[in-house]
Amino acid sequence: MTIDVTAYVDDRPEEGIFRVNRAIFTDEQVFEAEMARIFEGGWVFLGLAAQVPAPHDFFTTFAGRVPIMVQRDGAGALRAFVNSCPHKGARLAQTQSGNARLHVCPYHSWSFDSAGRSKAVKWQKAGCYSAAFDQQDHGLAAMPRFENYRGFLFGSLSANVPPLADYLGEAAKLLDLVADQSEDGVELVPGQVTFTYQANWKLQLENCSDAYHFTSAHPSYIRVLERRQQEASGEVVASVWENSDYWKEETKGVGGGSYSFPNGHVLNWGVFGITPAIPLYESAAVLAERHGEGKRDWMFNMRNLTIFPNLQVAENASSQLRVIRPLGPGLTEMRTWCIAPVGESAAARRQRIRQYEDFFNPTGMATPDDTVSYENCQIGYAGTVDPWLQGYARGMTASVAGGNRFSDRIGMNPARSVLADSQLCDETLYHAYYRAWVARMEGAA
Ligand code: FES
Ligand SMILES: [Fe+2]
Repeated sequence: MTIDVTAYVDDRPEEGIFRVNRAIFTDEQVFEAEMARIFEGGWVFLGLAAQVPAPHDFFTTFAGRVPIMVQRDGAGALRAFVNSCPHKGARLAQTQSGNARLHVCPYHSWSFDSAGRSKAVKWQKAGCYSAAFDQQDHGLAAMPRFENYRGFLFGSLSANVPPLADYLGEAAKLLDLVADQSEDGVELVPGQVTFTYQANWKLQLENCSDAYHFTSAHPSYIRVLERRQQEASGEVVASVWENSDYWKEETKGVGGGSYSFPNGHVLNWGVFGITPAIPLYESAAVLAERHGEGKRDWMFNMRNLTIFPNLQVAENASSQLRVIRPLGPGLTEMRTWCIAPVGESAAARRQRIRQYEDFFNPTGMATPDDTVSYENCQIGYAGTVDPWLQGYARGMTASVAGGNRFSDRIGMNPARSVLADSQLCDETLYHAYYRAWVARMEGAA
């Protein structure tokens, strides 16, 4: 099936036009093609190595519609399999995570070790199998490609993809900002949340990078913060600029901005400065020593990172890892965790979790505002009298090729960048999503 991408994305940079057709969020055939070409046809994020620290630990996830099991085998090697029994196809591991030397299929009890090898075909001798069957491999199907970038595990159901490092490109340096917050890397704080919303997966993709909605959609969160600030006015929080000459000099008139990268990865960011409002504050000095001030300062920036198509890391007052799983054109599952540097103090961890509860989770003060907005959009997409959306135009004349003095601080070379004040709220970074989308839907690896 071929999809005419020009019917969905109207990309005419010379004319200053970028529009997306509402049907990209609702069309069943588009969704089917997205599953085949994007989620089951290239690199997707699976999880963190920290989710499977011990031999025989495993977790389950999906690549598109395909159930996947990631497991550390008895020798400590990480492996990724299709979580489906070769006998009749039943899903093998039924839980989100666990520890198993042996997986026994619940249907007819074929069993597999933690390296995915067949251990036993029940009553094989009595089964009057042919010699051809006996010679066949009865183990689990390994994911054709599986790679670990600094503890971030990615897999591809298509073998025909570039190496992961090429796929991530310069955006890998943004994963480094997460991984390098501790010498021991990052981990997921216990207390995972899974929820669904009744709207398209690309709404979550976009919203993570959407600075424009913040003051409109989250007024209650902003008001609560303001009230707390007033109540705590005795103990004034240190200036966000304190201890940071770099941001003092370089940020005049700049509130943040955005970067976009090949293959659809994007970052939007804002200046926070080195402030005790951020749980990482206790490590500010040692991180500067270890990585240099530029990289340390970047770790303290507000950063919303998307690694296309399904990984998002949001770092602000706390830190969240999100995995997007499309279930249908109008239904999406989100799996979210608080992600944190290994070995931070109990006080920092407490602060991180409290601030996480504030903002994130379906029970927080921000996530419900967002998911309700996605669902409102999905309802609104039924209105196709003028199908072309106008939400991709802010920043058009501010977007430049390459990086800027901020990306230079970590030696990062994005494809495009925007420097913004507090109101520019760039929308051109979505262009990177849809250009990657077009390339993938047209069949590029
Ligand atoms: S489907 Fe797994 S043993 Fe039959
Ligand atoms: Fe939001």
